[in-house]
Amino acid sequence: MPLLVKGGRVVTATDDYPADVYCAGETITRIEPSIDLKSLPQGTEVIDAAGKYVLPGCIDPHVHIHLPFMGTYAADDYESASKAALAGGTTTLIEMICPGPADEPYDAFELWRAKAQPLAAVDYTFHMSVVRFDAKVHDQFRKIVAAGVASFKVFLAYKGALNLSDEDLFAAMKLARELGVIVTAHCENADAIDALQKSLLAAGKTGPEWHGPSRPPVVEADGVHHLCTFAELLGTHVYTVHTSCDAAVRAALAARYRGVNVWIESVIPHFVLDETYAERPNFEGAKYVMSPPLRAQVNQAVLWNGVKSRAISTIGTDHAPFRFKDQKQMGRDAFTKIPNGIASLQERIDLVHTHGVCAERISLRTMVDACSTQAAQIFGLYPRKGAIQVGSDADLVVYDPAFRGPFSQATSHSKVDYNAYEGWERIGRASIVTVRGAVQARDGKFVGTIGRGQFLQREPTH
Ligand code: URP
Ligand code: ZN
Ligand code: ZN
Repeated sequence: MPLLVKGGRVVTATDDYPADVYCAGETITRIEPSIDLKSLPQGTEVIDAAGKYVLPGCIDPHVHIHLPFMGTYAADDYESASKAALAGGTTTLIEMICPGPADEPYDAFELWRAKAQPLAAVDYTFHMSVVRFDAKVHDQFRKIVAAGVASFKVFLAYKGALNLSDEDLFAAMKLARELGVIVTAHCENADAIDALQKSLLAAGKTGPEWHGPSRPPVVEADGVHHLCTFAELLGTHVYTVHTSCDAAVRAALAARYRGVNVWIESVIPHFVLDETYAERPNFEGAKYVMSPPLRAQVNQAVLWNGVKSRAISTIGTDHAPFRFKDQKQMGRDAFTKIPNGIASLQERIDLVHTHGVCAERISLRTMVDACSTQAAQIFGLYPRKGAIQVGSDADLVVYDPAFRGPFSQATSHSKVDYNAYEGWERIGRASIVTVRGAVQARDGKFVGTIGRGQFLQREPTH
């Protein structure tokens, strides 16, 4: 059904103006100061956007949905993740394909696609993790890129699991350069973490509060420096995921100053939660164990200022949901066994709006840039996604800045059994969310069609 979004304030990464937006089929076809309903086909649905922002659908460049990890699986599937995303104003997901070292990469790509295809209600694409790199897998990565996955993921952390040797990392980054794909990277020194974990456990320091001390900021900064050294040698374009602290941001900026093509992502938990959450008694801290860990509060201003100055390109979630009642409990005796991750897919945009825009740390246009447009530009989706332009996909968020209410597990669509932001007051909510012209969510409720989401094929652009 054709759709007219009437009387709203259109806010993009670069512009902020009143306009009506008309969508025919799956795309935006008219943007005008005032569109007369009489000029539109009968049956056009009119959405009253008076007093509201009209934003391009938000893009989360870092989510985990199907994730075999630390002896368990992340709790969401594409249905619950799509509903959470849509309720929070996110219309496109970029999921990490994370196979084990013994798995064949092309099989993993097909498996991840098969998990998404029947259940996705948002559009989606993937970053392809390289967890081993030998002659056997070389051609498979070429095939995966040819099939439309134009970004790799590498882990410098998780020794003995997802971590790549330097030899393999160098070879994978060389292939990425040749193919023109960007390499996204989890930057923490795996061997340093392993040694620190062992000495903490040997000293009887087993609780979740020791997760942070096992991976201090310098360990992350070292990982960023290492990745950027290889990027400098090879010319590969790189993107540091979940960059959490001043030291790591500085390492990336120092590399950028040397001419390295490095983009920085930070994720919402690091902007609003600090290390004291992981220190909560009675194992509650396990709810807040993620990697890199939550940091000292002083780092939060560095991240907000990094977004404000646009040194930090994107704000993602690193949505990695694990239930407290059974999955987080796996680490009762040793923090090294607590599945790492925090669910934030539904909360991201409202947290950025509340703690970023309303707290005057960043502008509304910067929020749109960091939560939508930059991800589209860096990962080859722009201007189909991340824009409000004639010809762009009709992925729109009619956002109500006057809404007030708490975050809560009760209203969350994720299958995780707690909300890391429980009871926090939020300012703003996505009141209408469309994906390619179809309304998929209203006021936090899913009203769309499961399976409507499409795989987005991307061309290498780096
Ligand atoms: O704690 C995290 N971040 N869990 C998910 C896996 C990863 O490192 O992104
Ligand atoms: Zn990671
Ligand atoms: Zn992640």
